[in-house]
Amino acid sequence: MSSLQPVRGTHDLMGEPLKIHNYIIETARNVSACYGFEEIATPIFEFTSVFQRTLGEASDIVNKEMYTFEDRGGESLTLRPEGTAPIARAFISEGLSRLTPLKLFYQGPMFRYERPQKGRTRQFHQLGVELLGVGKPLADIEILSLAHTLLEKLHLTNPARLEINSIGDDQSRNAFRKALVTYFEKFQNDLSEDSRKRLTTNPLRILDSKDKKDQELITSAPQLENFLNAESQKFYDDVMDGLTKLSIPFHKNHKLVRGLDYYCHTVFEFKSDALGAQDAILSGGRYDKLISDMGGPQTPGVGFAAGIERLILLSKSAPKQKSPVTVVPLGETAEKEALKLSHQLRKEGFTIDMGYSGNLSKRMKRADKMNSKAALIMGDDEIQRGVVTWKDLKTGAQQEIKITQLSSFLQQMTSDD
Ligand code: HAM
Repeated sequence: MSSLQPVRGTHDLMGEPLKIHNYIIETARNVSACYGFEEIATPIFEFTSVFQRTLGEASDIVNKEMYTFEDRGGESLTLRPEGTAPIARAFISEGLSRLTPLKLFYQGPMFRYERPQKGRTRQFHQLGVELLGVGKPLADIEILSLAHTLLEKLHLTNPARLEINSIGDDQSRNAFRKALVTYFEKFQNDLSEDSRKRLTTNPLRILDSKDKKDQELITSAPQLENFLNAESQKFYDDVMDGLTKLSIPFHKNHKLVRGLDYYCHTVFEFKSDALGAQDAILSGGRYDKLISDMGGPQTPGVGFAAGIERLILLSKSAPKQKSPVTVVPLGETAEKEALKLSHQLRKEGFTIDMGYSGNLSKRMKRADKMNSKAALIMGDDEIQRGVVTWKDLKTGAQQEIKITQLSSFLQQMTSDD
């Protein structure tokens, strides 16, 4: 592959998709601000240890998907595959525990060495939120309410469906893991190779298997909900009650376990039917031990991240940008004056483009191409008389405006943008 191509699984973002990308981030930033979240931007790479243990030694991400390299100082660094562990690291290293409850919003590129396909790339972008320091179901409900509101505001072409599960506390999960291993051990020879491996490394993940034979066996496997202790069951019930009170529709999915090790209690995914295999557009859950496992103070957390590329696939079009007014100078003297005028008008906040070269018709074509509202035509004669010609590009109507009155005229003409 030529080195002039983008690396497999990466893309140049531009044009309409970039406009939608920015619109999605802006919408998420505004919705999170309404819920009291503040923005944080952590570095794009971290010490490898930030991810290695926290996401799980047996997880796909740590096992085969991380972009890990040694820097010139001999440190092992990793391009972040996700945003939660870096936030937990920042929480500890920046001493943020005195600020709890702490609500953080973030967005940016993430990196995973996965097989590229529709909705799955090696550099992708997430936006996410983390609520740190609240161990009650109230926080899970608030996070789910934020996710629901955000997806509603984005008016996606295909409604997302919320699937939710509880993987309980350590005690419940250990009991379930044991029962699961006992069950699957009986069918060791029938399991797919991946699932057979997981039987010793990460048995819960067998429930995620897409293999047909595995799925048949999973149908009769023990179910997580039957192993939740009373406390975990109450937590799950309270979260579901909260969703019902807020009229947020959800579906219980007892097979939803998620691919990262740090979760406990609530796990959830918003899925779309329109995306094929990579159907999760927004996922998350609770992680009460992540920060303490990393060496910080015991601090519960809950949050989610959404894949921006997947949201773009489900978006209609970006909201219209302001159409510019194009200044069209005729001749060299006029060009200099036009530059001065454009500089002044842009400083005043008007969106101004320029017809850069050629005769009147070529410069007007530029105005058309930029979908301009109007052209401001300036020839030597106009400059001498201290006027410009305003030509409305929709109606074709023309009028002369004194340069001294141009600013208030433009204000009037562009007020409905
Ligand atoms: P995750 O499920 O690994 O969770 O990723 C979250 C979202 O990122 C997915 O639902 C999907 O939309 C998107 N995504 C993941 N991998 C790719 C990829 N290769 N290409 C395109 N999009 C992708 C996390 O990352 C957790 N940190 C979420 C979280 C936050 N849990 C608690 N707080």
